[in-house]
Amino acid sequence: MKTLIAYFSWSNNTKNLVEEINKQFNFDVIRIERKQPYSIDYHTCAYVEAKEEVEKRIHPEITGVDVDLNSYDRILLFFPIWWYTFPMPIGTFATMLKGFKGEVVVFANSYTNDPQYMVNSMQDLKAIDTNVNFVEGLFNQSASKHIDFIKSEK
Ligand SMILES: Cc1cc2nc3c(=O)[nH]c(=O)nc-3n(C[C@H](O)[C@H](O)[C@H](O)COP(=O)(O)O)c2cc1C
Repeated sequence: MKTLIAYFSWSNNTKNLVEEINKQFNFDVIRIERKQPYSIDYHTCAYVEAKEEVEKRIHPEITGVDVDLNSYDRILLFFPIWWYTFPMPIGTFATMLKGFKGEVVVFANSYTNDPQYMVNSMQDLKAIDTNVNFVEGLFNQSASKHIDFIKSEK
């Protein structure tokens, strides 16, 4: 199964997790970034930029999606929780997936281990009108748990 890892990461926890996992698989990887980068200052990023975007469900312009998504059978989508759901660049990416026939497996991580965040993320992804098959993966798990999960899916 031809697999792509797509991820968003601001403070690199998700990036580090993806890199650790992908030592086992060597899948193609893309990093989704907001075209106008978020502030490197936590307070500005969280309480000004991200908060407004999440509250208004603004899908910002993104960069980094420089592959033919439809050439993959499966996408493993990784992101941190921002304001109880996915960061809005992931919403933009979801809209770009319209027409994607494969499976998109969702992996999230956050500071607080509240399982509702994954529920919110799945609901909010499915609410974007794409018809994409979003499948729940793992929430706040170790790299080795991810590796086992991805192997079991193959
Ligand atoms: C803008 C912003 C919003 C966040 N919102 C939440 C939240 O609602 N709940 C939570 O538990 N953690 C929240 N966090 C913490 C991140 O989910 C957590 O630190 C994650 O591991 C960061 O991943 P990254 O290093 O890949 O960006 C937030 C962090 C940021 C920057």
